[in-house]
Amino acid sequence: MKTFNIAGIELKNRYVLAPLAGFTDYSLRRLASEYGAGLTYTEMESCESLLYNSKETIEDLKNTHLDKKYCPTTKLALQIFGGKAENILKSIPVVEKYADYDFLDFNVGCPVPKVIRQSAGSYWLNREDELLELLKNMVRISSKPVIVKIRIGFEKIMDVKHLVKEIEKCGVNAIAIHGRTRAEGFSGPVHYDIIKECVHAVSIPIIANGSIDENNFLDVFNMTDCQAVMIGQRAIGYPKVFQDMIDREEGKEITKTTLFNQINDLKKHLDYIFSIKPEIVASRIMRGISTNYLKNFNNMKEYKRRLVLSNSKADYLQILDELIKNIN
Ligand SMILES: Cc1cc2nc3c(=O)[nH]c(=O)nc-3n(C[C@H](O)[C@H](O)[C@H](O)COP(=O)(O)O)c2cc1C
Repeated sequence: MKTFNIAGIELKNRYVLAPLAGFTDYSLRRLASEYGAGLTYTEMESCESLLYNSKETIEDLKNTHLDKKYCPTTKLALQIFGGKAENILKSIPVVEKYADYDFLDFNVGCPVPKVIRQSAGSYWLNREDELLELLKNMVRISSKPVIVKIRIGFEKIMDVKHLVKEIEKCGVNAIAIHGRTRAEGFSGPVHYDIIKECVHAVSIPIIANGSIDENNFLDVFNMTDCQAVMIGQRAIGYPKVFQDMIDREEGKEITKTTLFNQINDLKKHLDYIFSIKPEIVASRIMRGISTNYLKNFNNMKEYKRRLVLSNSKADYLQILDELIKNIN
């Protein structure tokens, strides 16, 4: 298995779970780790919420100790976002107080209006000088290696090659590149050629991102020469994607998932999320997630309809037990 290093820390393979707000809490991170992911990311945490000691945010930080306990061979990146440099820097000691993680990641990619209005996320691509100043200070203050996740432009494709070189000079130890501009959102063609230019412009690792799955990841390695690939949407309802990539790298055939396997994974997901969140909160979050596990199987409409109405762990388990009975 090929490996790679970030700041001298070895990752056991080149397969990375992307940060996904609303999804990559401890539960999905643990499933991805159990399927072999070498690196996972937390959801983005707001630096203002950190400064105000928001209860939910502090809980998210504390949950990283569970990653370390149950997934000791997978590395973890903790992602923060914000638009005010001062607050971002002040939030680092809070993160260090409560969380256990390997890399501090800064979000320079988020396109959603709520975040852009704070001049945060991908808006930093319009504030290049301030961004570089901030990154230098983050590197100085953080006791963990700093990494960054960027897009390739805001409205239009920018000179990303120049940007990554400057980011490297700040002492940042790796860059994940989502090969789309902010304007290009989350789907459509990915500019892998630009990711390749960046890989050859710097000596720190580049993690390629954008529409990568178990079928195209080897092509992405070939097209970009990147050190690692980052999987986002494909991992939602299909954490087995990490096992598939490992199998393929080892020259094995991918074993097609079964409905039974998907239900099993969903049950684990439920166990993990209900172990960290209040019942009603976990129930609500899983309404949107659970149906993804049943994607691409026939005759699931009625089960999906019921899953999105679940109010408790017992509700979910009852539906899944009925489904299992009907498969047998
Ligand atoms: C629902 C959702 C939530 C996301 N949340 C974050 C986030 O918190 N931080 C971040 O850097 N990117 C976030 N992203 C972007 C992903 O990390 C990734 O860059 C993007 O989805 C492209 O990869 P994919 O095609 O494999 O999904 C999010 C994307 C989606 C779809």
